[in-house]
Amino acid sequence: MSPAEEVKSRLDIIDVVSEYFPLKPAGANWRARCPFHEERTPSFMVSKSKQIWHCFGCGEGGDIFSFVMKQEGLEFPDALRLLADKAGVRLKAEDPTIRSERQRLMALLEAAVVFWSEVLWREVSAKSAMSYLVEERKLKPETIRAWRLGYASDSWEALINHLVKLGYKEEEMIKSGVAIRKMETRGRGAYDRFRNRIIFPIANTSGQIIGISGRTLSSSETEAKYVNTPETLLYYKGQVLYGLDKAKTSVKQQNLAIIVEGNMDAIASHETGVANVVASSGTALTQDQVRLLKRFTDNLAFAFDADAAGESATLRGLVMALSDGCQVSLISLPLRPDGKRFKDPDECIRADSKLWLEAIAKAEPMLEHYFSRAVSEYDLTKLPDKQKVTKLLLSLIGRLPDPVALNHYLKKLSNLVDVPERYLREVMPRQFNSSDSQTGSPVSVSSGIVTPLRARDSRSVQSERLLAALLAAPKQTGYVVGVIVPEMLASEYAPLYREMVVFYTAKTKNGKIDWQGQDFTEHLRNYSESESFLAQLAVLLLLADKEFAEFDSLGIEREILVTINRLKTSYLKSVLQRLENDIRTIEQSPSQDKVRLAALFEEFKTVSVELAKIHHQKNSNSK
Ligand code: UTP
Ligand code: MN
Repeated sequence: MSPAEEVKSRLDIIDVVSEYFPLKPAGANWRARCPFHEERTPSFMVSKSKQIWHCFGCGEGGDIFSFVMKQEGLEFPDALRLLADKAGVRLKAEDPTIRSERQRLMALLEAAVVFWSEVLWREVSAKSAMSYLVEERKLKPETIRAWRLGYASDSWEALINHLVKLGYKEEEMIKSGVAIRKMETRGRGAYDRFRNRIIFPIANTSGQIIGISGRTLSSSETEAKYVNTPETLLYYKGQVLYGLDKAKTSVKQQNLAIIVEGNMDAIASHETGVANVVASSGTALTQDQVRLLKRFTDNLAFAFDADAAGESATLRGLVMALSDGCQVSLISLPLRPDGKRFKDPDECIRADSKLWLEAIAKAEPMLEHYFSRAVSEYDLTKLPDKQKVTKLLLSLIGRLPDPVALNHYLKKLSNLVDVPERYLREVMPRQFNSSDSQTGSPVSVSSGIVTPLRARDSRSVQSERLLAALLAAPKQTGYVVGVIVPEMLASEYAPLYREMVVFYTAKTKNGKIDWQGQDFTEHLRNYSESESFLAQLAVLLLLADKEFAEFDSLGIEREILVTINRLKTSYLKSVLQRLENDIRTIEQSPSQDKVRLAALFEEFKTVSVELAKIHHQKNSNSK
């Protein structure tokens, strides 16, 4: 047994989940409000017998490990460690020779960070670096330690030489991003990437070092202020937030993440005790970063440098967070005694940390902010200004997934620019991120854990519902089999339904059913080895409990009728669509096969009549 299997066998998912929030019984399973998305009615289900969880609201699901990973924001190895502790399973230390390349690169970066930090604390050559941090940037020694800051001396090979001694190869140093290959030597030899720089280690959510950011100490204009590791096997720029490993607990507690631009801003804020702060490292927020934060909170507050909130790249980041369903607010830095605005949070905190707390308390919802700016920066009596403001605000409002918020702001805009709401509604670009990831890569490429949610079509939803209802009330199968053929279901559910029909036919004599839902489940387990088939069944059983545990048989019967109608409708519509296409193709073809055309028309008529019947039935039922 693998350590993971061992851990699983010793723990009960119900106990583990209950440590985070209470579960209520639902049939043979347990339910709660989903911790991973906002919801009013519980659709988060946990199965004791299968040791899995699934949320029917957001579509997330998995086992005990994926639950802890999501809940705690951990990568798999850390979730394993955490649960192994709980289970009393001892994990063997890894054999260094079989460590994966990623782990080896992480170990290399760890060694490099230890080295740079020793240099900073011990070496004479680092004296000016230390005094820069302590005197100029006012960092406490314990802060320097906690963030593992270091100093890379003004040398081309100090780090390389050290790493060679530890047994690392040049190739690995280059791959991890700390060394650069020499050009003139045709691919042999390398030199240190970070020279005469303060080292800021960049960690992943669980605190493992995956990249490095180095701030120059030289005042030369030709030097880049920051040099960062390039994208490597470990480090993808758009997927990391500086300081998240230290901020995550506080983000969760406060249910708010504050996003600043600079590394120093994040550090300074943590030092004053405001620890729910991460740095975006100077770039506009990516969708991956938003999703990363959403593991901990849906509330984001941005504290950008003085004028950044007007820049289009920044705006894009904000808009994306907004359309991902986050509550986005903006923190404006206060004015300095000389009347100018503080340059960044770090400067503000150094002047007076109370000002930073006040600024956070005064954070304004993003849309409110742009409304105030519209009033203060534009002359809304002039048409061009009015048009600009309308365009910008509409593009933001159209992103709001919540209809209440959307209507609220639409009314507000209508009053502001004095244009009736219905006209605004007509021109409003209505788009928010469907749950499907649009920018490709999921949050955690390395672990492949966080699967993007899928926007589901109604046929899948209805098919799933029908099958769940049948599992809850197998006695209804006879009726359903008579009216629904497998083709009517969404294709992914057709195999399971087909098997259900086969089972029903074999088990039923003269219309007398002598089997239970469990028998069918049992049968399927033996029938199929396919993991995905069984997983589908497990999810359906959860859904059955979630939806139908409290229904009596009459209630379920009614549900089944409604679902069948919906399924049939969408199936017949798709048939009509197909017939229409076929008809058009033949009409446009030179031969115009009359016989076939007539047959297609006939079929079209039959299907339409059938559709109309369902429609009529529905209407008379609802009377
Ligand atoms: P800032 O220029 O605001 O730097 O860039 P800062 O963090 O406030 O630094 P100090 O206070 O001058 O020491 C914000 C962030 O943008 C990224 C860094 O991550 C920085 O923290 N950046 C900036 C770069 O990656 N490269 C650069 O050349 C400059
Ligand atoms: Mn700064």
